[in-house]
Amino acid sequence: MCEFRSVKEKQVRIDGAESATYSLTAAALLCGVGFGANRWFGHDMLIRNFIFWLSSKRGVTNAIARRGMKYGFARRFVAGETLAEALTASDELCRAGRHVSLNHLGENVTTEAAAREVCASYLEMTEQMHAKNLAGNISIKLTQLGLDLGKELCGALTLSIAKRAAELGRTIEMDMEGSVYTDATLDIFESTQRETGNCGLAIQAYLHRTEKDIQRLAPLRPKIRLVKGAYREPANIAVQGKPAVDANYRKLTTLLLEGATRGLYFPAIASHDPFMVTHAQSEAARLGLPKDKYELQMIYGIRRDLQQQARDAGNILQVYVPFGTDWCPYFMRRLSERPANCWFVLRSLVAESSS
Ligand code: FDA
Repeated sequence: MCEFRSVKEKQVRIDGAESATYSLTAAALLCGVGFGANRWFGHDMLIRNFIFWLSSKRGVTNAIARRGMKYGFARRFVAGETLAEALTASDELCRAGRHVSLNHLGENVTTEAAAREVCASYLEMTEQMHAKNLAGNISIKLTQLGLDLGKELCGALTLSIAKRAAELGRTIEMDMEGSVYTDATLDIFESTQRETGNCGLAIQAYLHRTEKDIQRLAPLRPKIRLVKGAYREPANIAVQGKPAVDANYRKLTTLLLEGATRGLYFPAIASHDPFMVTHAQSEAARLGLPKDKYELQMIYGIRRDLQQQARDAGNILQVYVPFGTDWCPYFMRRLSERPANCWFVLRSLVAESSS
């Protein structure tokens, strides 16, 4: 089922919007020119926001959810609806020399029972990855482990997952969500990492606070996944606009790589932006940081050309592999990040309906 409301109330993704004025864009998309519409309107944001607005329309998302897996277009970005499917996709990636981080889609659970169910599913993912000897880990979202219900519950569930992973000699990573959760996420990360020592954390380059957070985490010698940040945040909390976010991203990449030369961090540079990837590679070379002391991360199905280039360059590449029945909002966000992605959806639908 595609449900978006619970997420939207708590944290709004950067590409989110609410407006029926996008009907003009809808007409363009339905006429089959959507992939070029950003050139028509000269405003990529309009398309992004339109797709995001569509993702909140139950009729649209239900239709997509019914067809997406059947017609295969959702499989470009989502490894499947079941753990078994995600493990099969992960196995293929690992055979091709990638590491994987499995993510069970969903966020913002509203009951303790649901949080415990998610915890059990994370544990099962870890066990199965271990049994199949897959390189990598699982990525967890703290609002999926009941963060809205209280830090104590969420912290205890997180610790139980990290402990089991540590017993198996494996790691976990924590996603970073909207800024209302940053403090709590850092607190839970710190206490868990202090106890188990096998945790990584996503840190968002667009937040003003991030440089200080990175310095604060150094004594824990953590893996830090540097991302640009995916939520809509106000100017007093985050820098605004791609050039400013990119500049911060480059600066923090250098900070993390320098720290890695002193053993303070294991940096994971998570971006599909070729300029960010090149910056990381050239800074690592300048600093004399060996390729096994940092990694690149990208998302399943996105910029597979760049993923291959990273492997060809000898970098460790970890692919974030999402799966689950709640895939529709995630899928729509990937489309909204790059409206040209709509084209392959339309092509899949046309190919299927004419065969
Ligand atoms: P950016 O959006 O700046 O675009 C640069 C270029 O990347 C584009 O021109 C295009 O070539 C390519 N590109 C980007 N998105 C694409 C798409 N969907 N399809 C095709 N090409 C695309 N965020 C967060 O807040 N918390 C988190 O925990 C995480 N976790 C996370 C893990 C991993 C492994 C990655 C790669 C990203 C995240 N993110 C995240 C998301 C992150 O914050 C950011 O929103 C996206 O990665 C988009 O920023 P980029 O730097 O990838 O490209």
